[in-house]
Amino acid sequence: MQFFIDTANVDEIRQANDMGLVDGVTTNPSLIAQTGRPFKEVIAEICEIIDGPISAEAVSLTYDEMLVEARDLAKIHKNIVVKIPLVADGLKCVRTCAAEGIKTNVTLCFSATQALLAAKAGATYISPFVGRLDDISFQGMDLIGEILEIYSAYDFDTQVLVASIRNPLHVLESARMGAHVATIPLKVMLQLIKHPLTDRGIEGFMKDWEKVPK
Ligand code: E4P
Repeated sequence: MQFFIDTANVDEIRQANDMGLVDGVTTNPSLIAQTGRPFKEVIAEICEIIDGPISAEAVSLTYDEMLVEARDLAKIHKNIVVKIPLVADGLKCVRTCAAEGIKTNVTLCFSATQALLAAKAGATYISPFVGRLDDISFQGMDLIGEILEIYSAYDFDTQVLVASIRNPLHVLESARMGAHVATIPLKVMLQLIKHPLTDRGIEGFMKDWEKVPK
């Protein structure tokens, strides 16, 4: 299972990467806005830090404009994956990108049928948003199970990238289901590390170590 970090903050990326937890990075317009920095500058810096797939999102909504953006973003670095929203023009753009060898991450996926279409169009990754589904009282992780079932039945190459992760249980369930990738905010990565018995164990060992003759 691959871990991507879901942020455009280079300090957070470095912190997680130092622990060996970053196989790739996902960004979106909201995450880029939080940095207060120019889009391409941030993406280029992330590509220097991480040698893995880096998702950068197209913000146009028509096929022609999306394709111009996708080609432009792909030129920034060989590891760029262009994020494209799951709309009709987006699927058309994904198809052209696949033919041109540009990797895509189809984003804002909220149903298994949408995911099926993305795979048929030739998406490299599909990003189902589990947290946003949970927010509206739908079990987001159920969607991951449905997509994995469909993709494996037909042997699609599209990888399931679990997005909108909000807590450690989302990561646990993603791993148990065999999702290819989870894109995780730093806060959740840090939550995954913590266990009270680990802290208590360290405390006990440190106390006992003081009793050992030196
Ligand atoms: C990543 O690719 C998505 O854009 C991101 O996970 C969305 O997360 P959110 O629903 O917490 O904004």
